[in-house]
Amino acid sequence: MKKSTAISPANIAFIKFWGKKDPELNLPFNDTFSMNLSCCLTTTTVEFSPKYKEDSIVVGGKEVSGGKKDRVIKILNLVREKASFNLKARAVSENSFPEGAGIASSASAFSALALAASCAAGLNLSEKELSILARRGSGSACRSIPSGFSEWKAGNSNDSSYAVQIAKPDFWSLADVVVVTNKEEKKVGSTEGHELATTSPYFKARLARLPTKIRKIKKAFFKKDFLTFGSILEEEAIDLHLTAMSSNPPVYYWNGGTIDVIHATQEWRKDGLLGFFSIDAGPNVHLICLGKDSSEVEKRIKQLKSVLFTITNKPCEGTHLVEKHLF
Ligand code: PMV
Repeated sequence: MKKSTAISPANIAFIKFWGKKDPELNLPFNDTFSMNLSCCLTTTTVEFSPKYKEDSIVVGGKEVSGGKKDRVIKILNLVREKASFNLKARAVSENSFPEGAGIASSASAFSALALAASCAAGLNLSEKELSILARRGSGSACRSIPSGFSEWKAGNSNDSSYAVQIAKPDFWSLADVVVVTNKEEKKVGSTEGHELATTSPYFKARLARLPTKIRKIKKAFFKKDFLTFGSILEEEAIDLHLTAMSSNPPVYYWNGGTIDVIHATQEWRKDGLLGFFSIDAGPNVHLICLGKDSSEVEKRIKQLKSVLFTITNKPCEGTHLVEKHLF
């Protein structure tokens, strides 16, 4: 059988997935909305063959084992089931950015895996089917399949929960300057964070406000009203972290650098430079700004001692196949 290789971007959620309605199927409680990140990419090559006696998964040159391997095998099994064969696979993956540090490596990883594995198995899945398959590995991965800006409709079953494109990459020239304040793997993964979310006394309040929040941020997005868009974006990031910090036990994803970046963006706004923060399950900050301001944002943020490095992204195409294989 032929090898297949896919490249896929991570994505930043403007409205976020926090807490699972169905942990096995990765069904969220609410709809979410995101942008693909052009410079946070995973490349994955998959081959199914009788020459493999068992599944082997290599990420960044290291053989993967334990829970991480099981998650990959779950997707390989779903593919084998659809393709009606039982061949073992080799999957090799490389990331262009630090893994497990809140830059959604699971989103780029599982979307790349969904496309590479299904093609390697000879399946020709639609964008909807790929989004559903990627979601089974990691919820947020379903949003990396379409190009540009995606909306993931929560749905209430396996077949009704997937992401669709709501705008092409060139619809709005936004940039996401990812500010890395720690590149180590985080101590509490998002899987555990999702499990704890509903223990927060604020979880229900968050859910109740979400439909209005989504409607407002989408309206601001389509009107390209950056001020309104940015303020809702920040409110949403804080809502997620308030939920995490007030769950039982609490989860604190931030470090001192996270706070330094938040303070810096508030200072710049006083002299007219607009950058709004978003923070996923980690200490790194995504500074969302207009494309024309990204070099200035980058220049200023690098002056903070707590900043290790930055990765500047623009909206980009979704998961796609490439010819160059990793093995
Ligand atoms: O897809 P998961 O299970 O890694 O969860 C993603 C959680 C957040 O990144 C914090 C939010 C989101 O919607 O991407």
